[in-house]
Amino acid sequence: MKKTLLTAAALLAAVSVTGQTVRMDVNLKKTGAPVQPTMYGIFFEDINYAADGGLYGDMVKNRSFDFPYALTGWTAYGKLQVMDDGPFERNPHYLRLNWSGHRDKFTGVENEGFFGMGLKKGEGYVFSVWARSDGGKLRVELVDNDSMTETQILTQGEISVNSKEWKKYRLELTSPVKIEDAHLRVELAGNVSVDIEHVSLFPKDTWKGREGGLRKDLAQALYDLHPGVFRFPGGCIVEGTDLETRYNWKNSVGPVENRPVNENRWHYTFGYKLFPDYFTSYGFGFYEFFQLCEDFGCEPLPVVSCGLACQFQNDDPSAHVPVDELQPYIQDALDLIEFANGGVNTTWGKVRAEMGHPEPFNLKMLAVGNEQWGEEYPAHLKPFVDALRKAYPQIKIIGTSGPNSEGDQFDYLWPEMKKLGVDLVDEHFYRPEKWFLAQGARYDSYDRKGPKVFAGEYACHGDGKKWNHFNASLLEAAFMTGLERNADVVHMATYAPLFAHVRGWQWRPDLIWYDNLRSVRSCSWYVQQLYSQYKGQNVIGLTWDGKPITGADGQQGLFASAVQDGNLIYVKVANTASSPNSIEFSFDGLKKAEVVKAVKRVVYTSPDPDADNTLDDPEAIVPRQRIFIGEGKAITATVDPMSFNIFVFER
Ligand code: AHR
Repeated sequence: MKKTLLTAAALLAAVSVTGQTVRMDVNLKKTGAPVQPTMYGIFFEDINYAADGGLYGDMVKNRSFDFPYALTGWTAYGKLQVMDDGPFERNPHYLRLNWSGHRDKFTGVENEGFFGMGLKKGEGYVFSVWARSDGGKLRVELVDNDSMTETQILTQGEISVNSKEWKKYRLELTSPVKIEDAHLRVELAGNVSVDIEHVSLFPKDTWKGREGGLRKDLAQALYDLHPGVFRFPGGCIVEGTDLETRYNWKNSVGPVENRPVNENRWHYTFGYKLFPDYFTSYGFGFYEFFQLCEDFGCEPLPVVSCGLACQFQNDDPSAHVPVDELQPYIQDALDLIEFANGGVNTTWGKVRAEMGHPEPFNLKMLAVGNEQWGEEYPAHLKPFVDALRKAYPQIKIIGTSGPNSEGDQFDYLWPEMKKLGVDLVDEHFYRPEKWFLAQGARYDSYDRKGPKVFAGEYACHGDGKKWNHFNASLLEAAFMTGLERNADVVHMATYAPLFAHVRGWQWRPDLIWYDNLRSVRSCSWYVQQLYSQYKGQNVIGLTWDGKPITGADGQQGLFASAVQDGNLIYVKVANTASSPNSIEFSFDGLKKAEVVKAVKRVVYTSPDPDADNTLDDPEAIVPRQRIFIGEGKAITATVDPMSFNIFVFER
C-alpha cells in the first residue's frame, strides 16, 4: 500500500506543469496562405531493398539471369548451360536445362529470393516463365529451404512446354503453409531439354489486383499516408555510382522482360555483405510510378540526371558529362515529359499507350539533379532550364541546394537557383536532435519572392541514435510546424527514405520496415500521416505573446502551428519538454456571440522515447484520440511531456 502511494506521489511530481500557462492566440481575423495540395508527400528510392525485394512484388532474384554472374541468386544442379542469345535483346541470357541422364537426379535451379520468399498459408502465387522446347516438361516447386526431408516440397505443379518458339507459361500455386523464407525450384521433368528465361513468382493478391504488380501491404502503407506529391526515383540512384549506372528511365519502361538490369547505387554499401548482389530489375519503373501516383491522387515528381555522377563518389571531373555534351541528357528529360503527357502519336506517348495508359499522366514538374554542388551544378542545370522552358513552359523546374542544410555550398547554390529562375529548390537535411530543436523558425525569414522550398529529404538522425525511435519522430513533428506555418514559401516536403527490408538495409531511419511477410509503420510514419490527414486549406496565425511558437528560448519546448479547413481549425502542438504544458487556446476574431467548440484531440506520445513500432508489435506507438471538451472564446488543455498533439476545433 505504502509503495503504491509513493509511486502515485512520484508520478504527480513528474507531471508538474512546465512554467506558466501558455496563451496561444489563434487569429481567425485573417486567412493566411493556402497549404498546397502537394505539401506532404513521399520519396521513393531503391535503397534498403525498397524496389526488388520490397514494393515490387516479384520474389525471384535475378529472374532473367542477366546479373554479371548469370547464376547469382540461383543454385544450379544437373546439366545446364547459360546461353546468351535469348529472345529479349536487352536481357540476352537464359538457361538450357538438359537431361542429367538419371531418372531421380534432376537438372534444375533453385532461387533464394530476397532473403527467402514469404508465402502465406492458403494464398495463391503466380509463377511464370518464358520457355521453349520440343515437347519437354518443367516441374515447379515451392520449397522449405530449411527442411531436409521430403516435406521440403510445399507445393508443386508441372508445365508442358509445347512450343519450339519462346512463349510465356503461367502456373498458379497455393501455399499450404506460412513461411518467411521459401525457395522456388524449376526442374526439368523428363528427358527433353527445355530453355528457360525470365522466371517470376508474384503473390496473386497484389495492390489493386494487378498481375505482376506491387506488394499490397507496402503500397497500402503509402496510400494511407495520403501523399500529395511523390518524388522518384532518387536520391543518389539518379546519379549512379558512375554515369553508366545512373537511373536510366528509358530502361524502366516497356515490357518488363526487356528492361535491362542495372547495378544499384547502394550495391557496395552493405557493411555485412561480402558479395554485393543489389541490382535493379527496373520492374518498378516509370510507368508503375506514374500509375501509382494516379492511384494515390498525388502529383508525380520525377528526378532526372543532370549529367553529374554522384559527387560524393566521383572527385574526378572526367566522371561527369561536359556541359557541351549534355544534349542526350536533356533529350532524356524532354522525352520523359513526352512519355508522361504526350499524345498517343508521339514516340514516347505511344510507348505509354502500348503499356495500357493512352491518357496522359498529367505531369506538372520535374527535378533536375539530386544533391549536386559546386559551380558545375548551375552550369549543368542552365541548358536544361533553357530547353525545358522552351519546350514545356508550364512544367515547374526543381533545382537543388546540395546535400547540406546550410553552409558554403548551400549559401552559394540558393542565389544561383534564383538566378536560373527555378520554381522550387530542393533542400535536404539529415540532422541530429539539436538541429531539429533549433530550426522551428527556419523558414520564417525566407525570401517570399524567390523560388519556393521543397524539403525533399529529411529525417532526424539522432546523435548516437541513428535509427527510428519516438523522440526522433517527435522532433520531426516539431520541425514540421515551421513548414506548415510557412506554407506560403514551403510548397512540398517529403521524408526520406521510405522503405527498408529488415534483412537488407543500409540506411536508417526509414518510414516503413518489412520482412517477407509483414510490415510495420514507424513512429515517423505516423507523424507524416497526421500532418497530411490534418493538412487543412489555409494557414492561420498562431502566436504566444505575439510571437510564432518555434521552440525558441523561453517557449517551454513548445512548437505549434494552425490551419483551417472550412469551419474546422487544426492546431498542432509538439511539446518537446519533459514536463507537461498547460495551454489556453484563445480565439481572436470571433463575432460577438460566436464561440468555438472542441471537437477532437489526437495525442501521439510514448512512455519510452527510444522505442519504435516493431514487426512483432506494429501498433505499440500509435496516435490515440483523447476526450476533449470545451466551448467558448478560449479553451484550455494540457499537453503531455514529449507529445505531439492535434487539436480540432469548430467555429
Ligand atoms: O535517402 C538516402 C540518400 O540520402 C539519398 O540517396 C541522397 O539524396 C541522400 O544523400
